[in-house]
Amino acid sequence: MPAKLLDGNLLSRQIRTEIATASAILSAKGTKPGLAVILIGENPASEIYVRNKVKACEEANIRSRLIRLPATISESDLLDHIHALNTNPDIHGILVQLPLPAQIDSFKVIESIDPMKDVDGFHVANAGALMTGKPLFKPCTPYGCMKLLESIDYPIRGARAVIVGASNIVGKPMAMLLLQAGATITICNSKTKDIGAHTREADILVVATGIPKMITANMVKPGAVVIDVGINRLADGKLCGDVDFDEVKYVAGWISPVPGGVGPMTITMLLQNTLEAANHFHQ
Ligand code: GUN
Repeated sequence: MPAKLLDGNLLSRQIRTEIATASAILSAKGTKPGLAVILIGENPASEIYVRNKVKACEEANIRSRLIRLPATISESDLLDHIHALNTNPDIHGILVQLPLPAQIDSFKVIESIDPMKDVDGFHVANAGALMTGKPLFKPCTPYGCMKLLESIDYPIRGARAVIVGASNIVGKPMAMLLLQAGATITICNSKTKDIGAHTREADILVVATGIPKMITANMVKPGAVVIDVGINRLADGKLCGDVDFDEVKYVAGWISPVPGGVGPMTITMLLQNTLEAANHFHQ
């Protein structure tokens, strides 16, 4: 019996409808939620992500402002743009699409964003708040993964969770959210020996490595929930995740597809964070 699907498209539609309603209500009270997205250079993947984010804003009654800057921009010019957005009362969320060109220090850029507008949740103040159990903005991808688990009423408390990938964007904040929900956590990284020995123990397996189909059926505990954060483009142009879906679906209890799993949830939680930022501003 194949695994049940963690359908990110379906759940996103439900949550985005609620966000659109809440945004319309807040707008009627005088604060229309506003998100600024800064896109630097012409990275094709970033172009697609940003296009999807802007379109999702429109559908959720959120004002979006796309700021396109050349790949050659200096760090100080970029910081000037961010400072202007920090003080702009119509903008409640600021997102700088990563990765950035080599001449720009990503850390410095993220730290220049007002933490109250940091809807990615990447600023050290927000990362620290998450770590101490009092998050302001949760990073969108792990937040979306938690919503997928919530949607199936998964009993996280006491479960064993294994996260493959230790990035600041996904792996580390995912671990914090699952830990707070009462799971026992293992984080595997690129140096981990015998990853399968860890992943086979997982009741909840979250994979964010960028390595196409690296998780095979023999690495998964029967009945596990498998959440695939990867989005990889194969030579034939098709998208695939970091999990070998066609094999793993016969072992897992639940599995998120690529596309249509975590991807739409990431955008949905960006809308949610922008709405929350506008709510804070309005109060
Ligand atoms: N690049 C890949 N994922 C993300 C994300 O969640 N936020 C930003 N700002 N850039 C990204």
